[in-house]
Parts: sequence; C-alpha cells; structure tokens
Amino acid sequence: MDVNQEFNKRFREVGVAEFFRKNLQMLGYSGAIRSFTTIVHEFVTNSLDACEEYGILPEITVKIKDVGGGKKNRGLLKLKRRQEALEKAESDGHKRRADTIRREIERIENELGDSVGHFVVTIEDNGPGIPLEYVPKVFGSMLSGTKFHRYVQSRGQQGIGAVGAVLFSQMTTGKPTKVITSTGNGKASVVFLRVDVERNMAKIVDESVIDTDWRGTKLVSEFKKLIYRRGEQSPYEYLRRTAIANPHATITLHEPNKTKTVWKRTSKELPPLPKEMKPHPLGLSADDLQRFAKKSKAKKLSGFLQGDLSRVSSKRAQEVLKKAKVEDKDPMTITHTDAERILREFRNINLLSPTKEGLTPIETGHLEASLKKILDSKFIKANTRKPSVYRGGIPFQVEVSVAYGGKAGKTTSDGRKMEIMRFANKSPLLFDTGACAINSAIKSVNWKNYNIGDFENAPLTVFVNVISPHIPYRSAGKQAVADDDDVVKEIRFAVMEVGRSLKRYVSGIHREALKIRRRSMFLKYAPEIAGALGKISETNPEPIENMLIDMIQKRIKLREEKDAEEENGASA
Ligand SMILES: Nc1ncnc2c1ncn2[C@@H]1O[C@H](COP(=O)(O)OP(=O)(O)OP(=O)(O)O)[C@@H](O)[C@H]1O
Ligand SMILES: [Mg+2]
Repeated sequence: MDVNQEFNKRFREVGVAEFFRKNLQMLGYSGAIRSFTTIVHEFVTNSLDACEEYGILPEITVKIKDVGGGKKNRGLLKLKRRQEALEKAESDGHKRRADTIRREIERIENELGDSVGHFVVTIEDNGPGIPLEYVPKVFGSMLSGTKFHRYVQSRGQQGIGAVGAVLFSQMTTGKPTKVITSTGNGKASVVFLRVDVERNMAKIVDESVIDTDWRGTKLVSEFKKLIYRRGEQSPYEYLRRTAIANPHATITLHEPNKTKTVWKRTSKELPPLPKEMKPHPLGLSADDLQRFAKKSKAKKLSGFLQGDLSRVSSKRAQEVLKKAKVEDKDPMTITHTDAERILREFRNINLLSPTKEGLTPIETGHLEASLKKILDSKFIKANTRKPSVYRGGIPFQVEVSVAYGGKAGKTTSDGRKMEIMRFANKSPLLFDTGACAINSAIKSVNWKNYNIGDFENAPLTVFVNVISPHIPYRSAGKQAVADDDDVVKEIRFAVMEVGRSLKRYVSGIHREALKIRRRSMFLKYAPEIAGALGKISETNPEPIENMLIDMIQKRIKLREEKDAEEENGASA
C-alpha cells in the first residue's frame, strides 16, 4: 500500500462541531436523565449571565412538555431505578459500583431505543436579547461567544453550551430549534435553525420578524432520549438550587405533569457586575503567557507585562525582563523559552496577590434569607470567606452555609440524610459527586467537633459555592472541582467557622431534650407525691398537686416558654 496515496485519500481536518457531534457525552449528554439537566443548565446559565451583565433582574421560565414516546413500560422503570442507584453510588463515592451501573444504564437505554421520552423544552428569559446577526453564531457556531476570551467570573466559559443543546436536539429528533429574540427595539426575530456541523455555523431554516414590546430570548427545542423525573439530578433539583444561589432571580418551572413551581426572588438587589480581571503572572503557564503576548496590542514586552497582566508595574516589568535575560522586544517575537524564563523570575520577586474585585459572591445575608425561604430551618448560618488565590495567581472565593433541621437534608429510601449542595460560580453541580473536591473537603471535616455525631444521617444541608474567573474543573463536563489544596483549605475553614455556631445550637437542642425528659419525669410523679402528702397531712391533695406542677414548670423552663415570656415582656 502506498502511504502517500493512502494519506491523500484519508487525511482531513475535523471541525470543532464535528468533533463534539461524535463526542456529545463530553458536554454532559450521556444518559437520559443527565442529558435533560444539561439542556436546562446550558440555557439557564446563559440567561442568568446575560441578565446580570445587562443589569436586569432575571425572570426565567422553563416549560417541559411530554409529547409522547415516553411509554411507561418496564424498561423505563428499570432505568429510573438504576439511575437512583447511580446517584447513590456517586454520592457515596463508590466509583467502581457507579461505573458498573453506568454500563447497565447504557445497555438498558440501547435496548429501549427511541421509546425513551420525547419532550418539547421551552426556555424564556427577560434578558437583553441577541442581535439578529449574532443568532446563527450563538446557536450554531461552537467556540464562539462573549465570555471565553475574557477573564471574568461568569457561568459560561467556553462558547459551546448553546450549540451543544441545539445539536443534541437535532440529533435526537431531526428538528430545528426555534429562537425568538428581541433587544427591545419593538421587533423580535423568529428564527428556525440547525447546526451545520461541517461549517460550524447555523443553517437558517426560516426567518421572520414580528412586532412586539417584549424583550428577551425564548427557545423552543425538541428532544428525544430523555427521561423526566424529580430526583437529585433532575431539572427540578437543578432549578431549585439555582434559585437558592441566585436570590435575585425568579424562576418558574412547568413540569410534564402540569405542576407549576415558582421560586420567587428573595432579593431585588442585583449582584454587582462581575468586573473583567487581568490574569496574574503566577496563574499563567508559559504557553498562556506566549499566547497572550502574541495577541497583545503593546509594542514592547515590558508594555505587555505591565498593561495586560495584573499587579505588574513598569519597574517590575523591566526588572523581570532584565533578570530573565530577555530583551524588551516586540511581544510577537516571544519564544516559549523566553516565557518560561520570565515566569521563573516572576516567582522570585514579591508581587502583590491578584486583584479580587471581579469576584461577586452571593453574600451572607442574601444566602441566609434564600436558604431560610426554601429549607425553613431554625438554624441557618452562612459564611462568605475573604477572596483568596490558588496556584499562586488565580483568584477565587468560597461561600458556605449550613442549615440544620426543618427541611434541611434529603429524603431517601433509607430515611433522611445529610445533603451537600455544590455550586461553581452560582451554578449547581449535580453530577460526578464522588470526584469533586467540594464533596471530599466537607466529608473530611470532623463533624463530631460540632456536636454532629452521625454526619451522614444528620438533618443537615451544607451549601458550598466556589467562585472564580477560572474554576478548576476536573473535566470539560464542568461538574466536579479538582482537588486543589488552596481551594480545599478554604472550604474547610469556611465550614469550621460556621461549625462553631452549629455546635452551640445543637448543644442547646440536647440540653432542651434533657430538660423535657426531666420535667416529664417529675410531672409523672407529682400526683403520687401529692396523694401521699395529702394522706399524711389529712388535706385535699389537689391544691398540693397544682402547687407541685407549678413549681416544676417554673424550675425547669423550656426554651420556647422563656422566649414567649421575653416576647410578652418586650411587648408589654
Ligand atoms: N439567553 C441569552 N441572552 C443573551 N445572550 C446569550 C443568550 N444565550 C447565549 N447568549 C450569547 O451567546 C454566547 C454563546 O453561548 P454559549 O452557551 O454557547 O457559550 P458561553 O455561555 O459563552 O460558554 P459555555 O460554553 O461555557 O456555556 C454567549 O457567550 C452569550 O454572549
Ligand atoms: Mg453558556
């Protein structure tokens, strides 16, 4: 066989959309339940990002309609059960078991083929809208968007999400996605489109313009190979958690069984606009530095270091170049070795740590109010740590909240269990639990120190949100945070601080329980004692019994009664 000829015949370049078409599981489209949540996640994060960026209080409506195909057959039921088992194995960190179940699920799904559900998903936001000329790019062109090239805290990062969902729709149903969008100019574009995978661009099937005074974006897309159910990894749970982490958003969900749930905003305050940050030298690899230099508008390397990176003064830039023995030349001509030398010198000088003003946490007060509304627990305490850095140069911040009692924790077939809610840049992470540093950090805390003897079975919800312009995800699926020492340390510190209040609260409950037991024991014997005293003193035992009861109740006062007395005293 002639190698040249064979290469000429077979060799060709593959486009990004073509690649992901074959590898959709990398984007979260694997399994009938995960795929559903991924669709909702992609569209909702886009809506939230867009609203926030334009200073709009988000109103997002998600409608899920079952349009048949989802036969309630035994296979589906089996699939649901396996999915539940998978969730459990994942959250318990049983990796091998989870892998086995995943293979089983795949097999059942293949057997079921197209009889797995067929749904229409509609997502509408009141965001800024998308200018018509950008619609084909947003929904048809992978690796394009307004976020990837900026160093800013946002939910989306890659410029893939929207196209991935449109692609999954057309691959499972063959239908185009309908996009209605208006920037508030009195007109809305109505576009039916598909992804042209070869060109990495949308193919417009139909396009029209209507008059309207509405502004925002509405998407209608059809999907097959999905299962809808309310579980720990469902769109319902995803939106519930999104509502907790985004108190300024109102989110409505219409489920296939016609149930409507509205999570109303608990705050009318928009989070401050996430500021674009410049990367800090210590957060960069030599390759990053070389790439940035080549894209820079600066004429000289010193100008680039000072202008395009964070915390580098002109004096520092000169000093580093001199020590690194790199000439102050055109940034276009920087070599990989130059970049390595420059970074090495940056590590040897004292640089201020990166600016952190671009980090916008939920904030303690908002988070507590939001959890209170949804979990209705008596004990809720949040803690927003100060911003910090990982790998020496990437800013991040951790927020933690612990809720005890009320609806905290989760209901499982084995009863009530503690629950860990993981978030990255305020977006819920529902999959790959066992692989996530947030999960392992929480489990590594010694909860006994905080009077939680049986952590796994406690009525506890532990909420963790990690924010950063660059979340250290474990993989492109963006569902698990990588084990980074600095990040893990911050999470543990945050929990420990909240833990101290939790300890006081729980020991209060223990004391109270003890009091209740003591009081009921005394009350139980009161009639007998009164009877005996009455006999000895030959008097009516009834007043004696009343006196005894009165005395016991005064001496062993329960917290509720004390609170009521204090309240009466205050209002009197
Ligand atoms: N609902 C929307 N309203 C306004 N602009 C939007 C909306 N949805 C998407 N966009 C724009 O389309 C771009 C592409 O979206 P897409 O989801 O593909 O990528 P991304 O959000 O930038 O990153 P990721 O792949 O991580 O989601 C976004 O960067 C944003 O500018
Ligand atoms: Mg996105």
